[in-house]
Amino acid sequence: MSTAIENSMITDIKLAPQGQLKIDWVAQHMPLLNTLKAEFERDLPFKGKKVVICLHLEAKTAYLALVVKAGGADVCVCASNVLSTQDDVVAALVENGITAFAKYGASTDEYHMHINKALDFNPDVIIDDGGDLVSTLHSDPARAEQLKTIQGGCEETTTGILRLKALANEGALKFPMVAVNDAFCKYLFDNRYGTGQSVWDGIMRTTNLVVAGKTAVIVGYGWCGKGCAMRAKGLGARVIVTEVDPIKAVEAIMDGHEVMPITEAAKYGDFYITVTGNKDCITKEAFEVMKDGAILCNAGHFDVEISKPDLNAMSVKQREVRRNIQEYTFADGRRVFLLAEGRLVNLAAGDGHPAEVMDMTFALQALGLRWISENGRNLEADVYSVPAEMDRYVAELRLKTWNVAIDKLSEEQERYLNSWAE
Ligand SMILES: NC(=O)c1ccc[n+]([C@@H]2O[C@H](COP(=O)([O-])OP(=O)(O)OC[C@H]3O[C@@H](n4cnc5c(N)ncnc54)[C@H](O)[C@@H]3O)[C@@H](O)[C@H]2O)c1
Repeated sequence: MSTAIENSMITDIKLAPQGQLKIDWVAQHMPLLNTLKAEFERDLPFKGKKVVICLHLEAKTAYLALVVKAGGADVCVCASNVLSTQDDVVAALVENGITAFAKYGASTDEYHMHINKALDFNPDVIIDDGGDLVSTLHSDPARAEQLKTIQGGCEETTTGILRLKALANEGALKFPMVAVNDAFCKYLFDNRYGTGQSVWDGIMRTTNLVVAGKTAVIVGYGWCGKGCAMRAKGLGARVIVTEVDPIKAVEAIMDGHEVMPITEAAKYGDFYITVTGNKDCITKEAFEVMKDGAILCNAGHFDVEISKPDLNAMSVKQREVRRNIQEYTFADGRRVFLLAEGRLVNLAAGDGHPAEVMDMTFALQALGLRWISENGRNLEADVYSVPAEMDRYVAELRLKTWNVAIDKLSEEQERYLNSWAE
């Protein structure tokens, strides 16, 4: 038996062929990662390095893990969310020699046990999504020595970067981390178009209901919220946005949406999508005025945006009415339906972002990982932006794979743009 099979903790290795088919499908639609895979096979940038990847374990992520392995790394994966793990994909990774600690529907204790098992793999570099690897490393006194050996890592999402910055501001961050989310080629496409499409895909495949003519309330008009609102409009919904930032609220209005407080919006919504990275965005006051039949879901990183404690306290009856749909009945007979336990609906009740979008994000992850493993030892422990030339390179690669050419600045134009006298 291979070491990966012996060491891993997964649901069933026999699911591997089905998972491999899923990985093969996305790989056909990820030309940037294919280009980097060929580069990595040639240059072996991760030779002799151990890499731990904590991401949503579905096919695109699996392909990223295989690309990193192709660069010479010994790779171990664990999940960043218990409901987004696809057991067949994880089995295929193990079959490919990658150690995995993950299973769909793991309990909270199992989730943390898996993260700890992955960290016991003793990584040189890491990829984190939401900050749970980093926070476990920094909060467990038993891992103090390990903090000194890690060269650095990359963080995938907005919430993880907020946590990293909080750690760095306290002077407590112990190794450098690259904020992949904040690269243009990440948030402009992944957060906006990726979340916009995959959240509605998750809602539609879970509920099998029509969107046109209904009212969608989007809570938070950041990059993800803009995408969800744009696609809701495209599907024929009336869109209401709720915000706490006056600038984002103005932007939403200028984009053609209505803006109002959540307790007002709660009277009208048929669908609610929270996507703020904040907690308690929809609570008791909103549930009290919601229409019978309202559908609630979350696309933010943690399941704290829609208050489940309030739903539990207010409901007199709960039952699962369809896979990933929990019905809460209130004392006055009104019902609301929560999708995927309030976890990221696009991943917990879908396959996540489209492959072409994740191709750009994961190209940045692969390049960021190479950058940190080459430079991490010489960097202060801090949160770093993706180097601008790397961001540009990913956009150039994307255009090339589309066969799209663009214009170049002439020397005269460059001089003009850099002068102040003309
Ligand atoms: N589902 C996915 O696949 C996916 C993809 C990328 C990011 N994310 C996650 O989605 C969340 C949002 O990411 P983003 O990149 O859009 O962040 P962002 O910072 O661009 O936007 C968040 C917005 O929420 C607003 N907000 C905060 N509290 C609010 C409240 N109580 N009510 C209304 N609005 C509020 C903020 O003002 C801000 O405009 C994060 O948790 C991020 O990690 C999820």
